Amino acid sequence: MICLMLWLLLLCATTAQAENDNIEVAQDGLFQLLVLPYDYDALEPAIGRKTMQLHHSKHLKGYVDKLNRLIVGTRYASMPLSRIVVLSDSTVYDQSVFNNAGQVLNHNLYFTQLSPDGGGEPQGILADAIDNKWGSFNAFKQAFNNSSAELFGAGWVWLVCDHEGELYIVQEPNGGNPVTRGLVPLLGVDVWEHAYYLDYQNRRSDYVDALWDIVDWSVVEERYEATGVIENNCQSAIEMLSEM
Ligand SMILES: [Fe+2]
Repeated sequence: MICLMLWLLLLCATTAQAENDNIEVAQDGLFQLLVLPYDYDALEPAIGRKTMQLHHSKHLKGYVDKLNRLIVGTRYASMPLSRIVVLSDSTVYDQSVFNNAGQVLNHNLYFTQLSPDGGGEPQGILADAIDNKWGSFNAFKQAFNNSSAELFGAGWVWLVCDHEGELYIVQEPNGGNPVTRGLVPLLGVDVWEHAYYLDYQNRRSDYVDALWDIVDWSVVEERYEATGVIENNCQSAIEMLSEM
């Protein structure tokens, strides 16, 4: 019985991974909804089940469906997601494509950096880079919390690196993603009210505080290490993102 349960767990994990391998590029012209690697209630108490269910199955699905409708028969139909974001941002006529492609990319990065086993502190070269930039992990968290509180209206706050591997905290309004500025997104916090209002009402700072308990730093470290920061070059990460 134990072997059967372990096999079923492995099968579920493998299936979710296989399905998510298809989110980075459109399949037959259609982007797929991210398959969450955890249940809707898995991130409680930081994020409640109802919030997760609505956020994933309504908000993200809405962005995916709208994006698919918008790109049919256009030059975007065969492009990787981040390339759609960058190109549509530079074209004033394609703001609907930019808004929805940006939100699909943003949410795919957001949901996959969270885990019920998250929390703690980053390790390795990411931890060193954070210490070098802000002095300590706690100082970094405070700066990130401040930026989240100060962002006016809906948007995202990101930990990013530039082409030399230096870290920054940046704000993006609405569905913006730092790839449009040539920056690599490492950790993104959704501060649209749909991400927290059911659980925290207007207390955005409490939501961001709670997120530190569910950040999967191994994912963020992997994104940073993929930038090739040891070689002082983010090109490989930009190429990796071009697959999303
Ligand atoms: Fe969201």
